[in-house]
Amino acid sequence: MKLAEAKHAFITGGASGIGLAIANALAEQGLNVTLADIDEEALEKVVATRANQFRGVRLDTRDRDNWKSAKEESEKVFGPVDILINNAGIAPHGKEFADTDPKSFDTLIGVNLLGPANGVLAFAADMRERGKGHIVNTSSAVGLIAMGGGVGVYSMAKFGVTAMSLGLRQDMAPHGVGVSVLCPGIVATNLHKNTVKIGGESNDDPDAKPAPTVTLDEIGKMVIEAIERDEAVIVSDKNGWAMMEYQLAPIKAACELRDQA
Ligand SMILES: NC(=O)c1ccc[n+]([C@@H]2O[C@H](COP(=O)([O-])OP(=O)(O)OC[C@H]3O[C@@H](n4cnc5c(N)ncnc54)[C@H](O)[C@@H]3O)[C@@H](O)[C@H]2O)c1
Repeated sequence: MKLAEAKHAFITGGASGIGLAIANALAEQGLNVTLADIDEEALEKVVATRANQFRGVRLDTRDRDNWKSAKEESEKVFGPVDILINNAGIAPHGKEFADTDPKSFDTLIGVNLLGPANGVLAFAADMRERGKGHIVNTSSAVGLIAMGGGVGVYSMAKFGVTAMSLGLRQDMAPHGVGVSVLCPGIVATNLHKNTVKIGGESNDDPDAKPAPTVTLDEIGKMVIEAIERDEAVIVSDKNGWAMMEYQLAPIKAACELRDQA
């Protein structure tokens, strides 16, 4: 979608980190932005930084009724949503599958997989009806390359977001609506702190923090370009394909085995 044709973007997890970086990048392009977040205190502060273009709305992405009211509230102010950024998420809990507490599992899947799905359920039909729009769903590098260890359940949720995005893209393309999936590497944000704030479990170990692989400004720019060019997948880090090949090798071997049988 050409950004010049877009007026209103709705961003979940917009009060911090990647969501806020995308919000600023879209505001720079002249769009009005609804920042939807569970953290009302953070929302208030952030909205004040661009009072003319930002509006805040309290949203827990796990709550479908809340999606309905947040959509109505935001569209009353800025008109129909042209761009939906389904970005809110929490951190991996740091435990292997076998050691995962069921409550922690439900929270992680609820926020990181069902949250973005609820956003699609709330907005996709309207965009199809209007014959325009773009949806960006935030997955992760581990939504393309499966990981276990302390990241297994997180990776499972993010794979779901990737699958939803690629399938939805097929459905929406004939109706003029674009869909992209954002797969960042490691970004310096408050993800772990905010996870604990909403009652999630986090494995944050300040001594074992991997170095960021991409900056917030770079992510903002990548998302703007992906919307303009209708890119299906946004990969933030270099050398991703080598990792994908490693993952695909057993699938390739299985296909070759079947073809030979
Ligand atoms: N930081 C990274 O290294 C990294 C890498 C890959 C993917 N991601 C993904 O990027 C997205 C944004 O994360 P971030 O790193 O900017 O973290 P962040 O904590 O800075 O931002 C996340 C925001 O989402 C909000 N939020 C959490 N649960 C919510 C809910 N149920 N409803 C509404 N809002 C909610 C938080 O309050 C916070 O403002 C997440 O989906 C995360 O999984 C992050």
